[in-house]
Amino acid sequence: MNRGEEKFMNNKPHFKKVNGISTLIVNNKPFLSLSGELHNSSASSKEYMESNVWENVNKTNVNTVVAPVYWELVEKEEGIYDFSSLDYLINQARENNKKIILIWFGLWKNGLSTYIPKWMKKNQTDYPFVKNEKGESLYTVTPLSSKAIEKDSLAFTELMKYLNKEDAEDQTVIMVQVENEVGILGSDFDYGNENIKLLDNEVPEEVSKYLDKTGTWEERFNEEAKEYFMAYHYAKAINYIVKNGKAHYDIPFFVNVWLEKYPSRPGDYPTGGPTAKMGPFWKAIAPDIDAIAPDIYVPNFNEVCEQYLSFQDVLLVPETRQDLETISNLLYGLIKYNINCFSPFGIEDFFKEESEKDERTLATLAIDSDAFDYTNTGELLSDAYKILSQMSDYIIEYRGTDKIHPFIKEKESDRGELVELENCEVKVNFNKFRDNEVKSSGFIIETDENEFYVVGININVELLSPYGSDKKIGLLDFEEGEFIDNKWVRNRVLNGDERYHITINNEIKVFRIEYHSY
Ligand code: DGJ
Repeated sequence: MNRGEEKFMNNKPHFKKVNGISTLIVNNKPFLSLSGELHNSSASSKEYMESNVWENVNKTNVNTVVAPVYWELVEKEEGIYDFSSLDYLINQARENNKKIILIWFGLWKNGLSTYIPKWMKKNQTDYPFVKNEKGESLYTVTPLSSKAIEKDSLAFTELMKYLNKEDAEDQTVIMVQVENEVGILGSDFDYGNENIKLLDNEVPEEVSKYLDKTGTWEERFNEEAKEYFMAYHYAKAINYIVKNGKAHYDIPFFVNVWLEKYPSRPGDYPTGGPTAKMGPFWKAIAPDIDAIAPDIYVPNFNEVCEQYLSFQDVLLVPETRQDLETISNLLYGLIKYNINCFSPFGIEDFFKEESEKDERTLATLAIDSDAFDYTNTGELLSDAYKILSQMSDYIIEYRGTDKIHPFIKEKESDRGELVELENCEVKVNFNKFRDNEVKSSGFIIETDENEFYVVGININVELLSPYGSDKKIGLLDFEEGEFIDNKWVRNRVLNGDERYHITINNEIKVFRIEYHSY
């Protein structure tokens, strides 16, 4: 057992505070999940996974694959459960030395119910679809259908029992995402069954507790009453499903989010889903869910991280962009926002010759097409993942302390940052924005009084004496190298001509620097 491991012993995957940071623990030690999510349909075929997925996935150096398990395959016949599709997924992941974050494609996926079993699709008497204002059915089972929720919950509970039996020891599956980007698309409310009249009812007890006030939905939420009402029903439903599953296998459960992008109206984004505005309300109604995780395809990555950390202390990014933005978001966000799981979407794509964007699908999903341009991203992502995973003990050890300093160039006018260390100031100069290059970004870890590591891209570093000091700073060691299994292994010692510039161009590198003053 390694030093410090005993404090995490005998547990299933869970979150635990390390230096005050909620940190994912797997196999009894902190685990930084450097992931990639598969395309929706890949995991439905064992053969497809073998021939089209693993080889590409392995090139990206992910340590985790975010992959779905499909209700339509698990319960083809009502009440008969078949986990063979999960079985090969787990076995293949183990063979490829990967962890899995499982997505339960159950009642809802991107605001629709396309993954429910056939027998449920054909029975809209028991499992009614949402209706829009004109009374037309949308392809979404209403979250007010307790019968549908019960069926989802029974299948999900079987899934958790299965994981407990088959995986508790290995812990290949480290977290479960329950449903996918829930909410109603194409209507701001479920107008079926005269639900609109329910807005004149008193809010349920959990809601009045949350508000610390009683009153009807209309009185309490005014023009937002419909959205809060739908959010209440989605959050209640998913909490019920999670709670029942958790009773059989208690690992972290989260929901992901189709973000509300401005300017848009409820129904343009899935209304009732855990958007940033609805986050605190969702947390109150669904206390058994460990995290609300934003899918971040928008350009304002940092702002979204801040929004989601304003009402919870765990940040997971289960889906994100494929383009070069993803590299700087990763290097910065992992430290600045203590992200526990970072996962570009369509991870099996990254080493394909050319981007095969499906513009029509992206438009339907309201995703900016630039976000799906992985040209030039693959090599950099795999380098970044290699470096970060090989030094993950350092990242975990220093996150939450004042010894780790992330930096990023957010706009053209940002020239750089001054990072104050114990005995010197490091001036991190940012490169100009250039096409097909990653934004200047990275971080410094101060590991000793006069020693630090800098990890980054498109930067130049200068060492200055502390402000006001009459001493100068000299280099003792300037080494390029890499971490292997959390140990520094140096390559060249940079001196002579090389010592004039501590520069990293459009590649990700790590330097170790030791200095003194004279
Ligand atoms: C968000 C969804 O959650 C994913 O399943 C996928 O549809 C991506 N969008 C884009 O393809």
